[in-house]
Parts: sequence; structure tokens; C-alpha cells
Amino acid sequence: RIAYVNGRYRDLRDACVNVEDRGYQFADGVYEVCEVRGARLVDFPRHMARLQRSMRELRIAEPMPITALGIIMREVVRRNRVTYGIVYLQVTRGVARRDHAFPPNPVKPGVVVTARALDDEKKQQAAAAGISVITLPENRWPRVDIKSVALLPNVLAKQHAREKGAHEAWYVDSDGFVTEGASSNAWIVTKDGRAVTRSVDQGILAGITRAVLMEVLRAFQIRLEERPFTPAEAREAAEAFVTSASQIVMPVVAIDGQVVGDGRPGGIARRLREEFHRFSA
Ligand code: PDD
Repeated sequence: RIAYVNGRYRDLRDACVNVEDRGYQFADGVYEVCEVRGARLVDFPRHMARLQRSMRELRIAEPMPITALGIIMREVVRRNRVTYGIVYLQVTRGVARRDHAFPPNPVKPGVVVTARALDDEKKQQAAAAGISVITLPENRWPRVDIKSVALLPNVLAKQHAREKGAHEAWYVDSDGFVTEGASSNAWIVTKDGRAVTRSVDQGILAGITRAVLMEVLRAFQIRLEERPFTPAEAREAAEAFVTSASQIVMPVVAIDGQVVGDGRPGGIARRLREEFHRFSA
């Protein structure tokens, strides 16, 4: 496998970054994950707009024009012969002597791009079966709107889920409402067919898949409610699902060990999954 690292395409085994890269020492960096489908980057412009926002919020300099980043990402996809999978882009503040505050003199941001093929058939099988989620208390910093590489709470949440035999962890805020998954946005479908997901100004990442799915909902005249919901409401809902670049629409069939609906993926989630790529760019 080939990675792009600060100007070079390297075999992944030999790809190195400086030990004083601030991404490594302080998690001082941001990232994006794009789906690759038919060797194309899905919703590339939206992912780049979010990347630019993340960098602006953290005052990380743009390492190069977005078009150049796009060329590199496509080249990494091509060199790895990925037709279906994901491409990962990371931009860090760069290399400097260890000191928490920003380097006094501007340094070049660090750029890493990797790509990985996924098994399309396995994904479809997972979607056909549906996944289970567990819930746990929200313990992330308040700036989860920034797609930062500081993911330790997410790592611990995912590991907790795995140890419980689940695939995703849903964070629950101090008022008892689900915020989002450790690496996905959380949704339910009410018994009268409305799609419910938390609003982006209420402590979640503005998911690209979430945004595109809203266009799908409009096209199919499925009513949307942007509001928080509790795990109890989700367990009683007709359907539940999560959205992310790597999973698109993934039905949730159990929450904390209790089945949702009839314990099988819901019809609306299935339909949204099937139609999604007619609406993505
Ligand atoms: N995760 N919420 C969180 C906390 C996420 O990490 C992600 C994405 C999402 C969904 O965003 P999008 O639809 O733009 O992928 C929501 C990526 C895929 C990851 O960390 O691998």
C-alpha cells in the first residue's frame, strides 16, 4: 500500500512522520474520511469545505490549494487500486520543538493521505443484518464540530462497544439525549415515518452523509425533525440508523441489547441507503 506523506508517495511500511509533528505529540490536527466509489471521491467538495472550516477554527494554515489536495487524494486512490473503500486525509499544524502553544514562526502543515479498499459485499451483508449500538455518557470536549484527530474518547467508546459485542457507541448528554455515535451521526424513524436527528448546533459533527441524506429525505417527502432524542425513544422507534462516509446509511437493530422495531433493518433506512448515491456528488 502507498501513502502520501509531506510531498512524497511512499510504501506504507516506509512512510514516516517527524516525531515532533504536533499531530503526533498534541493531536494538533484535523482529518477527513471520504468514501471512494467507482474510484471516485464521494462528496469531495463538501468534505473539503468542512476540512477548511476545521483548519480555520484551529488556525492551521492551508497546506496547499484544495484542488492540489484533490489531485493527491485521487493519486493515492489510484496507486492503491481502490475502486470501493475510503481515503483518509490528515492535516497537522506541523513540526516544531515541543511546546503547547503554537510555534512562534509559521511551520509547514503536515499532510498525510492513505486509502484502503473495503469489501463491498461484506458492507452490504452488514447493512442487511443491521448493527447493534450501546450507549455511554458523553465525555468529549465541547468542540466536536471540529473534525480533529484528538479521538481518545471515541477510541475508548468504540472499544467499549466492541467488548459488548456492538458496532457503534452512542454518546448520551447530561440531559439524557443521544448526541451522536463515536464515528457516525445517529438517527431514528418515528412510528409515523418522520426522520429524527440532532441539529448540528447541538454538539455534534456536521456529517456530510447526514447533510446529503437530508436532500434524499426531501426528494422522497420524508419529514425531517432536527431535535434530540433519548435512548428510550430510539428503542421504541420504528427504525434507527447511523450515517457516516464509510457506512453511508447503516441500520441499527439493537440498542443496549434491546431490539429496535422487529429487530431487522427498517424499510426507510434500506431505501435511503439504496438511493443515497443518486444524490451524492
Ligand atoms: N467519522 N460524527 C463523528 C464523531 C464522526 O467521526 C463522523 C465521521 C460522523 C459522520 O460524518 P460523515 O458523514 O461526514 O462521515 C459523525 C469518520 C468516517 C471516521 O472517523 O472514520
